[in-house]
Amino acid sequence: MAARVVVGTQWGDEGKGKYIDMLAADSDIVVRFSGGNNAGHTIVADGVKYALHLIPSGILHKGKTCIIGNGVVIDPGVLIKEIEDLNEKGICTDALLISDRAHVIMPYHKALDELQEKFRGSNSLGTTKRGIGPAYSDKTERCGIRMCDLIDEEVFIEKVRANLEVKNLIIEKIYGGEKFDADSIISEYLEYSEILKKYVADTSTIIFEAVKAGKNVLFEGAQATFLDLDYGTYPYVTSSNPVAGGVCTGAGIGPVYIDEVYGVMKAYTSRVGAGPFPTEQANETGDRIRELGREYGTTTGRPRRCGWLDTVMIRYAAGINGLTGLAVNHVDTIGKMGRIKLCTAYKKDGRQINTYPANLKELAKCEPVYEEFDGWDEDISNIRRFEDLPLNARKYLNRIQELVGVKIKLIGVGKDRSQTIIV
Ligand code: GDP
Ligand code: IMO
Ligand code: MG
Repeated sequence: MAARVVVGTQWGDEGKGKYIDMLAADSDIVVRFSGGNNAGHTIVADGVKYALHLIPSGILHKGKTCIIGNGVVIDPGVLIKEIEDLNEKGICTDALLISDRAHVIMPYHKALDELQEKFRGSNSLGTTKRGIGPAYSDKTERCGIRMCDLIDEEVFIEKVRANLEVKNLIIEKIYGGEKFDADSIISEYLEYSEILKKYVADTSTIIFEAVKAGKNVLFEGAQATFLDLDYGTYPYVTSSNPVAGGVCTGAGIGPVYIDEVYGVMKAYTSRVGAGPFPTEQANETGDRIRELGREYGTTTGRPRRCGWLDTVMIRYAAGINGLTGLAVNHVDTIGKMGRIKLCTAYKKDGRQINTYPANLKELAKCEPVYEEFDGWDEDISNIRRFEDLPLNARKYLNRIQELVGVKIKLIGVGKDRSQTIIV
């Protein structure tokens, strides 16, 4: 198990952080490879809650190297605040490294994220407004500013000035927003640079050397398969590739070095932001799941949309990510629903389909085909062996495994990292 990957199989917030933290215990290095501070990963360790947005969820374990890879976009102010918050809680961040190739989120990215969402009106995507999309757009437009640029004063000043000439025109003339002053951005960011430069390194080389030496490297996914720029419900997606393939480009190692890919899922489905959601229950059932699962965003605090588990999605995610194991969370939550529905396929134009349509008009025509299960009332949060779970819980989990065709390896029965069944 030299290199393991943890990815989300739904629309995010599946509980990836909890497993990263757990699997970090026997890892040498933990690496974030995509997204930015749009992510919110909750860890509850020995009753203490941590919410991480940029720093890998392995940081709670002393002595683990934690890397923010080149595929991540970094808001330096947010990162520094996260480092300080952890330090205040007694967590050491000395073993943090940041890729010199990671792109920097600038103030104009955040402004543009807000303005673009406003401009979209009723078609807004429901982004986190953290500047993620505009930062990745600049990366592909080849005018982005990387960490290696931020820590080189001369290059940084030149790039900020050149970018602002265009960005200010777009902000003012197209969106009617307020333009930015180059000098104040430069002085703010050069202060960040002073603090962060000691962490900046060529991280892909470090990861490659570690993998070659047989060390255990854990790749931490943020977001999820159906928020992926290529495979998600486009355009209601994020602007990066959070699928397992993103590890190769976002951390800098070849696919042959990946040994295991864990797909994290909830025993139901949730989504924050706009976009299609075939099994959504925009009714009392969804409200009940939200209350039972405490489904409110870790990053924006928004109530999450909730619905039944959709195995068409998880099957699709299994193929795209090459999942070697499933981690199913909130098994404690779903059991309290009395009767549970499980989507096994879609019906479209009178025919059953098993694939996930790219065209959102076609997806809107898909009606979930459900199987029903009885819930379980017992408190299962202290159970640590699969055989000890109530029969109804085992039936539900076995059916999920059968429908997806991937073994369930981890089962979440509560928030705390210890509330896990290892199958
Ligand atoms: P991530 O973004 O994938 O790391 O997930 P989040 O932290 O955003 O959201 C997952 C939420 O579910 C957090 O509040 C977790 O504490 C909680 N959680 C994770 N696993 C379980 C579980 O098995 N049972 C319960 N009740 N809560 C869980
Ligand atoms: P974790 O890692 C849930 C969603 C946003 C919005 C869409 C685009 O905690 O699972 P963006 O700001 O990325 O341009 O927003 O993606 N989104 C997430 N939803 N969990 C996340 O991360 C998310 N990161 C982005 O709500 O719908
Ligand atoms: Mg989250």
